[in-house]
Amino acid sequence: MNNKAQTLILFGATGDLSKRMLLPSLCALDAEDLLGEDLRIVGTARSQLSDSEFRDFAREAIETYLPDHRRGGMAGFLNRLSYQSLDVTTPEGYADLAAKVGENREVAIFLSTAPSLFKPTIEGLAQHGLADSNSRICLEKPLGTDLETSCAINDAVASAFSEDRIFRIDHYLGKETVQNLIALRFANILFEPLWNAQHIEHVQITVGETVGLESRVDFYDGAGALRDMVQNHMLQLLALVAMEPPGSFEAGAVRDEKVKVLRALRPVKPSEIVTGQYRGGASDGEIVPGYDEELGRESDTETFVALKAHIDNWRWQGVPFYMRTGKRMPERVTEIVVQFRCVPHSIFPGAKLTQNRLVIGIQPQENVHLSVMSKVPGIEQDGMVLREIPLDISMPDAFTGKHKRIAYERLLLDLIEGRQTLFVRRDEVEAQWNWIDAIRETWETEGIKPKPYSAGNWGPSAAIALAERDGVTWHE
Ligand code: BG6
Repeated sequence: MNNKAQTLILFGATGDLSKRMLLPSLCALDAEDLLGEDLRIVGTARSQLSDSEFRDFAREAIETYLPDHRRGGMAGFLNRLSYQSLDVTTPEGYADLAAKVGENREVAIFLSTAPSLFKPTIEGLAQHGLADSNSRICLEKPLGTDLETSCAINDAVASAFSEDRIFRIDHYLGKETVQNLIALRFANILFEPLWNAQHIEHVQITVGETVGLESRVDFYDGAGALRDMVQNHMLQLLALVAMEPPGSFEAGAVRDEKVKVLRALRPVKPSEIVTGQYRGGASDGEIVPGYDEELGRESDTETFVALKAHIDNWRWQGVPFYMRTGKRMPERVTEIVVQFRCVPHSIFPGAKLTQNRLVIGIQPQENVHLSVMSKVPGIEQDGMVLREIPLDISMPDAFTGKHKRIAYERLLLDLIEGRQTLFVRRDEVEAQWNWIDAIRETWETEGIKPKPYSAGNWGPSAAIALAERDGVTWHE
């Protein structure tokens, strides 16, 4: 499907995601003339707003969340916007929405509402001719809380839209640095011959956040770090690191390879996972309360997970993938560390050779850093002195003049233009849930509860031990 959408309908248009990400991203795309002349954007939500009130809402959102130099002539963008008040659970409103959209048009529909509203919304759209072969639909996470609820959402969507018209968002795939991982692996001859168990000792994936609960108390407490971060973003990063080279950058080719990795994930043993929950402490130079205090009650929800994953295929046999994510960590950092093996034989007696390491910084530092051994300059009588030195590429330095984008810019443009490569296919989501559900079942049968850690630390000490007992140190 490559038809460009002429209308974009945003459900949940007055919500937080729309305000912080979607409207600013769309305005930024417009400022670069990427939206095309004809695109109209219809916002819908329950609030009763006129078109001009919605435009005011959008203007304020853009002024708050999009830097000045990226806004372009905002007036042109605001003119594309109109608004339809709609309670998705009642039939009223859909007919007016359909009339606003008109006939003979390609429509892209973005559901940024609670997943419990997906089913009634899809039924309402279908009943009013908005779920036909000229429409595509985009779904925001969370897509369920386990395999069963995820299948129920997928079934509801599939009742009205074919898979090639369903765009499931994982906003990590919209990040430039995540896409760069694909470029790094498959646009260079250098890495691929070494990208296997013979040469790689282990991989680490870290997503640390300094924030706590923010304002998402109920959502987060019902989800926890495993379902909020590992099930989606971290497994997508793992799949991109571990997949076989796809035949092309087409959606089918890339997603076929990712799903093979996700299906090859071995169930995690209880001894290979550590969960934690933050207590009060110092984070980002501030004294912050513990999770229970923020929540206002006790809870067993984990705000930190560290685990050791294994991929059961030829390429990755015996290579552990250590993953950790948490709230109230010492720093906000997302990075992937690929630790290579030792040279098979050293010709430098007395010198300690450090293994090569590739560190891919996803955020906030966008860089690629390869550590190599080098001779320290000088004349020595008893052998060379060697030291590890970095080969560094900082993306902002390498590409000066290129601005940082919001991940949603890429994804919204792909939705409008009908490209699915950076969206998640049903079988991927289901393979992800399958693996995650098994972990949660183990927690329940073993009665595993999160261990406390002080805010501002990398989780409970057991997380450090998880890696250290294999002789591995988490990268810092
Ligand atoms: C969201 C999670 O999907 O990703 C949040 O629900 C998390 O809890 C966020 O904070 C992290 O995204 P980013 O882009 O800031 O790394």
